[in-house]
Amino acid sequence: MSDGQKYLVTGGAGYVGSVVAAHLLAAGHRVTVLDDLSTGHRVSVPEGAEFIEGRIQDVARWLDSSYDGVLHFAASSQVGESVAHPEKYWSNNVGGSMALLAAMRDAGVRTLVFSSTAATYGEPATSPITEDTATAPTNPYGASKLAVDHMISSECTAHGLAAVSLRYFNVAGAHGSYGERHDPETHLIPLVLQVAQGKREAISVFGDDYPTPDGTCVRDYIHVADLAEAHLLALTAATGGEHLICNLGNGNGFSVREVIETVRKVTGHPVPEVTAPRRGGDPAVLVASAERAKDRLGWQPTRADLAGIVADAWEFVRQGE
Ligand SMILES: NC(=O)c1ccc[n+]([C@@H]2O[C@H](COP(=O)([O-])OP(=O)(O)OC[C@H]3O[C@@H](n4cnc5c(N)ncnc54)[C@H](O)[C@@H]3O)[C@@H](O)[C@H]2O)c1
Repeated sequence: MSDGQKYLVTGGAGYVGSVVAAHLLAAGHRVTVLDDLSTGHRVSVPEGAEFIEGRIQDVARWLDSSYDGVLHFAASSQVGESVAHPEKYWSNNVGGSMALLAAMRDAGVRTLVFSSTAATYGEPATSPITEDTATAPTNPYGASKLAVDHMISSECTAHGLAAVSLRYFNVAGAHGSYGERHDPETHLIPLVLQVAQGKREAISVFGDDYPTPDGTCVRDYIHVADLAEAHLLALTAATGGEHLICNLGNGNGFSVREVIETVRKVTGHPVPEVTAPRRGGDPAVLVASAERAKDRLGWQPTRADLAGIVADAWEFVRQGE
């Protein structure tokens, strides 16, 4: 890893972006965070990063040739909201990314790492999901991210951009004082932790009659620090003219009930659960094959243990009490 590079981190006041920004700084890089604080938090911007409060749609004002690359996290990312307000997702995710690609072209910044998502695959019938699995998003959020992936591919082919899209599965855990504070929260582990904290009465289990060992949905949880390490490796692996797409997950699935049970054990608190009907669009199993990330990035997750992921997230939420 070469040191002393200068990177723009869009969305660096958010959950994943703040953790990656902290890792970049720790590796000796210079970091500028661009974030409009629409879902992010000023306190999440790591010390040592320059902070610009602004929108990616206006990124051309700040991006210049002094930057060695961009890590692009800024997006709207709530599935339910994307169904109710698709226009927000096309505008912010696709329109914002288009403005970013144009600014990068104009400034001659030729390296990009993009936060793509497992939602681009929709509900595949086969598991684990590889990058060759057909993309068939089932909501505007996943569709908007897939559209950005297509835009990036053509930018690489036509204009020589070096780009890596990382398709995250369920990001979880925390990195010291950097963790998940979405509002509204829609992710399972922080929601179950809210029950353990007494902030929420019970956790709803949406469907317990799926064809899985305990009947509840199985998902692939990846520690946010493992995810961050993949971003640093992606910066090194990015090659002019190529759009490399890599899934990021542990390749292990945990059921909703396993997550709840793990939270009970880690926190020592009771976690009442309520079984509710299935939600539309929830596939039984979503597990990643991350073989390509291992092969092309040299990435190896080291924090795959669910109890460890939950323990780090629990420590983070208790800091905020
Ligand atoms: N968290 C997950 O499990 C997960 C899974 C798959 C993909 N992703 C993707 O990873 C990225 C980061 O997710 P997160 O969980 O950290 O979300 P987050 O909401 O915590 O972070 C997104 C950040 O982008 C900022 N932002 C949004 N629109 C902006 C704009 N137009 N200009 C400037 N800043 C803007 C927000 O204020 C926020 O700080 C997103 O692109 C998301 O789609 C996340």
